[in-house]
Order: sequence, then structure tokens, then C-alpha cells
Amino acid sequence: MEDKLFALWTLGIVLFASSVTDVLMMSESLCKNNTVLARNCCRLPGIINQSIVDECDDKFPHLPPAKPGAKKTEGSCVVECMYKAIGAFQNSKLDLDITVQHVLQTVEKYPNFQPLVNETVSWCFRNATENPTLQQTTGCSFVTQEMNDCVKKMLFISCPPANWTSKPECDVLKGKMAEGCTYSSLY
Ligand SMILES: *[C@@H]1O[C@H](CO)[C@@H](O)[C@H](O)[C@H]1NC(C)=O
Ligand SMILES: *[C@@H]1O[C@H](CO)[C@@H](O)[C@H](O)[C@H]1NC(C)=O
Ligand SMILES: *[C@@H]1O[C@H](CO)[C@@H](O)[C@H](O)[C@H]1NC(C)=O
Ligand SMILES: *[C@@H]1O[C@H](CO)[C@@H](O)[C@H](O)[C@H]1NC(C)=O
Ligand SMILES: *[C@@H]1O[C@H](CO)[C@@H](O)[C@H](O)[C@H]1NC(C)=O
Repeated sequence: MEDKLFALWTLGIVLFASSVTDVLMMSESLCKNNTVLARNCCRLPGIINQSIVDECDDKFPHLPPAKPGAKKTEGSCVVECMYKAIGAFQNSKLDLDITVQHVLQTVEKYPNFQPLVNETVSWCFRNATENPTLQQTTGCSFVTQEMNDCVKKMLFISCPPANWTSKPECDVLKGKMAEGCTYSSLY
């Protein structure tokens, strides 16, 4: 437990230093060009109730991928919708306890992953809410998007051995996530 916490903090300090733009630039070269999908290295349990995910997916049109180099002005509306639907995002504020409770409940059927939830969600909450570059006044929130991606990324990085596919390509993906690629870019 202590070791894991330390690893999370070290990773956090490294990643905290890079700005959103760096990560976006990175996703264009480093994050692409994979020979394996993240879900084939570690199948993660859903962290938000599937019926809410489906509902929000239907509510917002899927936008074409942003042009390379274009600066994003808002976060994912689908993800914001999900956090609003679970009651964890109100008045532009993310609530840690409600998020932890929801994810714990959603992951309940996966005893390998459930013990990772509290620590992971709490760490990601700090990483997403304490970063001023994620605050914006218009459009859908970057905070919920970062939160959601961070939790998946950290669960992937801490994937229980029973759920991990031992392949060099999978270690490469883990390394890319540690270097700042988003989970969704490697999904
Ligand atoms: C993509 O991956 C292949 C094989 O790993 C490598 O040879 C090539 O240089 C990579 N291309 C880019 C643009 O990174
Ligand atoms: C993780 O592995 C366990 C044991 O093999 C399995 O029962 C469980 O379904 C796996 N979890 C996921 C999310 O696939
Ligand atoms: C998702 O929500 C539905 C409807 O509220 C509920 O029946 C179901 O048990 C929930 N699923 C999980 C995994 O919590
Ligand atoms: C999560 O961890 C915190 C701090 O370790 C603890 O106070 C809290 O009770 C835990 N919450 C749950 C739902 O387990
Ligand atoms: C923590 O936040 C920074 C800045 O938004 C981000 O680059 C990094 O990917 C986040 N860490 C994780 C594990 O998501």
C-alpha cells in the first residue's frame, strides 16, 4: 500500500508539471502508433454505471477528432453529463465523496479492482481539481474529463496481475500512460 501510494505521488509530480498543451502535442506522436489496445492489456471494469454512460452518449453528438495542433476550448460534454447524472458535478464543482461512492458501487462485482478505488479516485480528484489550467468559464468541464481519464489510467497502471496480459506491447502502453498519454487516446 505504501509503495503504491509513493508510486502514485511520484507519477503525479512528474505529470503535474506538464501542461494540457504538452499532453495534447504528445498525443499526436507518442500516443498514437500502438500495436495493441489498452483494453486488450487490462480489461477495466466500468467506473460509471453503464446506463448513465449510454444515456449521456446518446445525448451528445460524437464530434470529429480535433485538428492536429488545435487548442481545445472545452472538455468532453459526454463525461460532464455522466458526472452530473451521478450527482457528483453540481455548480461546476466536483464532489469527491459522491464520486468515490458511485465508483465503489459500480466496481463492486470486481473484487480485484475495488480495493484500488478509494485511493485512485482520491488521488485523481486532487490532480484534476487542483490544476488551474483545467478551469474554464464556458463550455463543458475539463475537470470531469481529466478525472474520468485519470481514474482509468491509474487503474490500468495498477492493473491486478490476474487481469494483466503479459506482453511487451502492453508494457509499452503502460509507459506511455505514465508519460502523460490519455487513457482514451490508447483505448
Ligand atoms: C511506429 O511504430 C513503429 C514500430 O514500433 C516504428 O518503427 C515507427 O517509427 C513508429 N512511427 C512513429 C511515427 O512513431
Ligand atoms: C479480473 O480477473 C478476475 C480473475 O481472473 C476475473 O474474475 C475478473 O472478471 C477480471 N476483471 C475484469 C474487469 O475483467
Ligand atoms: C446501474 O443503475 C441501474 C439503474 O439505476 C441499476 O439497476 C444497476 O444496478 C446499476 N448498475 C451498477 C453496476 O451499479
Ligand atoms: C477512503 O479513504 C479515506 C482515507 O484513507 C477514508 O477516510 C475513507 O473512509 C475511505 N472511504 C471509503 C468509502 O472507503
Ligand atoms: C494529472 O494532471 C495533469 C495536468 O492536467 C495531467 O497532465 C496528468 O495526465 C494527470 N495525471 C493523470 C494520471 O491523469
